[in-house]
Amino acid sequence: MAGPAGLVIATGGGAVLNPVNRQALAAGGVLICLEADPVTILERLAGQDDRPLLTAPDRMTRIAELLAQRAPAYAAVPHRLDTSRLSVEAAAERVLGIAAGLPKGGHRLIVDSESANQRISEQHLVTLSPCHPVTLLPVRTYDVLIANGLLAQAGQRIVAAGLAPGRCAVVTNPTVGQLYAGKLTVTLIEAGFEPLIFEVPDGETYKTLETAAGLYERFAGAKLARDEPVIALGGGVIGDMAGFVAATWLRGVPFVQIPTSLLAMVDASVGGKVAVDLPQGKNLVGAFKQPELVLIDPALLTTLPEAELRSGMAELLKAGVIGDPLLFEQLARSTGEQETHHAPRTTHHTKPEPDFVEMIAAAVRVKARIVERDPFEAGDRAWLNLGHTFGHSLELLSGYTLRHGEAVAIGMVAAAGLSASLGYCDAFLPARIRAAVEGLGLPTRYAFDPATALAAMGADKKRRGRTLRFVLIRQIGKVEVIENVPEATILDALEKMRAA
Ligand SMILES: NC(=O)c1ccc[n+]([C@@H]2O[C@H](COP(=O)([O-])OP(=O)(O)OC[C@H]3O[C@@H](n4cnc5c(N)ncnc54)[C@H](O)[C@@H]3O)[C@@H](O)[C@H]2O)c1
Ligand SMILES: [Zn+2]
Repeated sequence: MAGPAGLVIATGGGAVLNPVNRQALAAGGVLICLEADPVTILERLAGQDDRPLLTAPDRMTRIAELLAQRAPAYAAVPHRLDTSRLSVEAAAERVLGIAAGLPKGGHRLIVDSESANQRISEQHLVTLSPCHPVTLLPVRTYDVLIANGLLAQAGQRIVAAGLAPGRCAVVTNPTVGQLYAGKLTVTLIEAGFEPLIFEVPDGETYKTLETAAGLYERFAGAKLARDEPVIALGGGVIGDMAGFVAATWLRGVPFVQIPTSLLAMVDASVGGKVAVDLPQGKNLVGAFKQPELVLIDPALLTTLPEAELRSGMAELLKAGVIGDPLLFEQLARSTGEQETHHAPRTTHHTKPEPDFVEMIAAAVRVKARIVERDPFEAGDRAWLNLGHTFGHSLELLSGYTLRHGEAVAIGMVAAAGLSASLGYCDAFLPARIRAAVEGLGLPTRYAFDPATALAAMGADKKRRGRTLRFVLIRQIGKVEVIENVPEATILDALEKMRAA
């Protein structure tokens, strides 16, 4: 069956009952059965009375009957997707994942910075003469693929993203390299690449211009050319560092992110910000460098140290608070919270295993939608700083003994307190956030002096030449940025974070 590519046909559940239809559809494309449990179906059909098959006194029983009758036909469909607990977006990403041949349960998110680019370009054309073509900073559309087992497919995925096989530079550190560079090398070679591995020492202290300079020298030694991609394999430090080098080496070469820490998966690898640190401060020298592809394999988290995982959970929770109430609930549920308040459903008292694929997809979706609207950090991207104004000052005060995620966790509780005291949200919100943070094993307090913390924020303020900005929470899933918060109110919020 030849036809236009990329066509989506919704048949309705009855069409695939006939095996001839099923075969014809499966022969012409990717046939996917979208399923849901009877309760969800009933909910989704609420208010619809144009369903002749469901005219029965007890709709629920009728739905269950129909499902049972149709079960053999549905079982014969090559791909099945249970959409019961998926949002429309999540289901669409999973469908795209199936169509792209991702491992089971995988997501494909398309980060589209093009529309923002269009808007910028139109603004420029208003002020410039039309005969001056405007060339903009490079922004483009790229895929974020999320699936367990994806690392083993990296080679073919990178080719599918449009990068021609040939030499490529893999930037990693000894910790991650020892665990995963071998596997990556195998899949790259299978796909026709000739990977060169460049290790830099592990740790934020090496996210410097000196390390970048070392890489430039080694790239020059290897005569890496403009079409030869840089692949980052590691946490946020490697992603930022390799991305900065990819943005600047030969004025920019193609870049692929393979994040291996939770923080890098949900935050650092998406959005195109890359940087190195200076002695004067973090991320002071950097660029916007959109990757060609981001490959997220949550199975790599099994080797991530517990403390790093917990720190990354803070950024997951942040994504939920900013833009996804369901993600927030999922995280709050995966903590001990429920077991203490409700009778446990399972016989054993273990916490439910976190479903990292779904949670990471949800968090990336939140970040992607924000950076799409604001690729160059002119507006809404500030939302991503929820908990960070407080968090950064605590990190600084602790002499960086407090982990970033821990500081952000405390910062989110502080932001919730500030939101409530300014009347931005209901009075229960701070307690909900605090419970979720605690449940994730993250701190909600710290021993510090509020006045010193406020002064540390002020230092931040002077550097930016602006007033202090805070991201406040209206409700879970909705935040906004405000300025000019009275100092006394900030001090009060900080005081509540102070450990006894
Ligand atoms: N570009 C952005 O938008 C953005 C956003 C947030 C943070 N960041 C940056 O990210 C950095 C922090 O990233 P991070 O928290 O990933 O720190 P990190 O890169 O230092 O990784 C933490 C530790 O875990 C190790 N590790 C990583 N993956 C592993 C794995 N799968 N198994 C075993 N060990 C593993 C690393 O080697 C390291 O020792 C900071 O420099 C920060 O500025 C950037
Ligand atoms: Zn952060």
